[in-house]
Amino acid sequence: MKHAALRCVALLALVGPLAYADDLPDGEQLYQKHCEACHGGGVSKAPQMSLLEIMSPQSILRAMQSGVMQVQASAMSAREQEILAEHLAGQSLDAHAVNPAPVCSGAAAEFNAAAPPKTRGWGVDRGNQRFFPAEVAGMTAAEAPGLELKWAFAFPGAVRARSQPAIAGGALYVGSQDGTLWALDKKTGCVRWTFSTVAEIRTGIVVEPWEAGAEVEPLLYFGDLIGNVYAVNAVTGELVWRDRPDDHPSLTITAAPALHDGRLYVSLSSLEVTAAADPQYACCTFRGGVAVYDAHSGEHLFTSYTIDEPPTVVGRNAIGTERIAPSGSPVWNTPALDPERKLMFVGTGENYSSPANETSDAVLALSMEDGRIVWSQQMTPGDAWNMGCETEKRINCPPEDGPDYDFGAATIRMTTSEGRDLVLAGQKSGEIFALDPDSGEFVWRRKLGRGGIQGGVHFGMSVQGDTLYVPMSDFDGGPRWPGKAYPGMFAVDIPTGKVRWYTPSPEDVCAGREFCQPGLSAASTAIDGGVMAGGMDGVLRLYDRASGEVLWSFDSAREYPVLGGGSGRGGSFGGGAGPIFDDGMMYVNSGYGIYFHMPGNVLLAFGLEEDSAP
Ligand code: HEC
Repeated sequence: MKHAALRCVALLALVGPLAYADDLPDGEQLYQKHCEACHGGGVSKAPQMSLLEIMSPQSILRAMQSGVMQVQASAMSAREQEILAEHLAGQSLDAHAVNPAPVCSGAAAEFNAAAPPKTRGWGVDRGNQRFFPAEVAGMTAAEAPGLELKWAFAFPGAVRARSQPAIAGGALYVGSQDGTLWALDKKTGCVRWTFSTVAEIRTGIVVEPWEAGAEVEPLLYFGDLIGNVYAVNAVTGELVWRDRPDDHPSLTITAAPALHDGRLYVSLSSLEVTAAADPQYACCTFRGGVAVYDAHSGEHLFTSYTIDEPPTVVGRNAIGTERIAPSGSPVWNTPALDPERKLMFVGTGENYSSPANETSDAVLALSMEDGRIVWSQQMTPGDAWNMGCETEKRINCPPEDGPDYDFGAATIRMTTSEGRDLVLAGQKSGEIFALDPDSGEFVWRRKLGRGGIQGGVHFGMSVQGDTLYVPMSDFDGGPRWPGKAYPGMFAVDIPTGKVRWYTPSPEDVCAGREFCQPGLSAASTAIDGGVMAGGMDGVLRLYDRASGEVLWSFDSAREYPVLGGGSGRGGSFGGGAGPIFDDGMMYVNSGYGIYFHMPGNVLLAFGLEEDSAP
C-alpha cells in the first residue's frame, strides 16, 4: 500500500524482476491472514487500520517483535514482519521522521551531584499525593499562568508518551515507546546519554535519593512493557541490574516502582487480558502483585500476590480449551507506602477468568515486611472480564462479563488537617473512597462519575491539604454505559467527602476532532493553589483550588518544531504520566496513540516568562 508499494515499484525498475524470485507474500496478504480477524473490527480494543496507519513502521514492528503482538505475529518470519509493518504504516522502515536532539556539551553534559531529587518518584511523596510545594515547583497557581513553551522534544518512533519524567542531577530522565531511556539536560533538552531496553517504557522513572554534594552514582529504576525491571546508573546510563520478577509470559510493568529505605516495590500487571481474546488460549494464569527488591543488589526478596492461591483448572470453554482460575487482580498503580504501619496500599483490577475472587477491584493493604495481605476491601464483587468479551463469539468471556472496574489510579495515603490518617482511592466506576488505614473500613464513599471501561477515575488523583482533586475520564462508552457522563475535574473536601466544585470539560471541545474525548484520563498534579491536568482532548488546564475556575490552558494537539530539527506532534493526555514541576519549569508528555485516542510523541518544557518568575 502507498509508499511501500511505490518503493517496490522503484526497486523493481532498478534491479529487474529477478530479484523477486524468492516470492515473498505481500503486506496485504499477511495482514489478511494474521491480523484482520481482530483488527478488521472483530475486537473492539484492537486498533483499526486508521490507527495502525498513523503508527510508525518501527512501532508496529516492535509490537510484533517485542511488544503486545508477539504471539499473534509468531508464525511469520522476520522479513515478513518487516513487510507487514511497512505495509500497515504506509512508510518505509528506513524513513526517519525525527532527528535526535543535539548531544550536550560543556556544563550541560555534567551530572550535578549538588542537585539530588526533590521528590520521591511518581507519587511525589511516598503517599502518592502528587503535590509540588512552591519551593520545589518554583511557582504557585497564581504564577503558573505565566508559563510559556520553551522547547519541545520528540520521541522517535512513538505515537504515545506515557512515562512520567523525573528530575535530578540537573537532568530530566524519561522513558519512551521505542524502549529508550533518555537523560536530557533539564534546562535545554540536549541529550546526556541514552539507554536502550527491549520494549516500551511506560512507567515513570524513579531516582535514588542522595545527600547533596557527595560523590555519588545514584540509580534510576523503571520497568518495561514485557515485565523487566531495570536499575541504571544515573550518571553514566550503564545497566546495573535487570530482572523479570515473575516467569509469566504476559507479565507487564506499567506503574512506576516505589522506593523506600533501600527497597524497591514493583507493581505487577499483565497483557494476558488481551491474549484471552483467542479461544485457543487457556485463560488465565496470571496473578497480580507487588515484587519487592533489594534496590541496590537487585535481589528479589519476595512477591506479594493479590490472590493468595495459585490458579487451577476449573473447566473447559466452548471449544474445549482449559479454563483456569482464579486469575487477574493486576496492579497497575504505584504502591502508597506507610512505613510507620509497615503497610503498602494498592488498588487491584478485575479477575480475568471465572469464578471471580474476593480481592479483585479492591484496595489491599499488603505487609511491607513479608507481603501478606493484611486487609482487603472489595468495591466491586464478581467482576471477571477479558478481551474475549469484546470478540464476536465471546468464547473466553467469563459469565460475569465485567464491568471491568479496575483501580487504575494510585491509592493515596494522607493525613487530614485534623490529624486523621486516611487511605483514598478512585475507581473506573467513577466512585471514590476514604478508608481507615488500620482496618480498611469505609470512612466515606461517593459516586462522582458514571464510570465505564475507560471511564471514571482512570490514572491519578492528587491532594493539597484537605482538598482531593479527582480527574474524571467519563466518556461515551456506548449502550453498555448509559446515563450522564461527567467528564472534567472534581474537588472534594477530604474530611467530609463532600464535593466542593465540579468543572466540566467544555461541551463542544471535541467538535470535529477525530479521536478526541472530553474526559480527563491522565494523572493530575497539585501545586500550591491549584491543580494541573491534561485531557483526552489534548488540552492542559490549570484549575483554581478555591473556585475550580480554569486559570490557564494550553492546547497541545498540534505540530511543534523540535530540538534537533524536524517536527513532533502533541495529542491526547492519557495514561499514568502527569505534569511535573521543578524550579520555575513544568514538563509534560503529550500523545496517547492507543485505544482510539489522539497520537503524539512530544515532551513539552514550559517556563515562566522572565518577568513573572518568583
Ligand atoms: C487475537 C486478536 C488479535 C490479532 C490476531 C492481532 N491483534 Fe494486534 N491487537 C489486538 C488487541 C486487542 C490490541 C490492543 C492490545 C493492547 O494494547 O492491550 C492490539 C494491538 C496491536 C497494535 C498496537 C500495539 C501497541 O503497542 O499499541 C499493533 C501495532 C498490532 N496490534 C498489530 C497487529 C498485527 C500486525 C497483527 C497481525 C500479525 C495483529 N496485530 C494481530 C488484537 C489482535
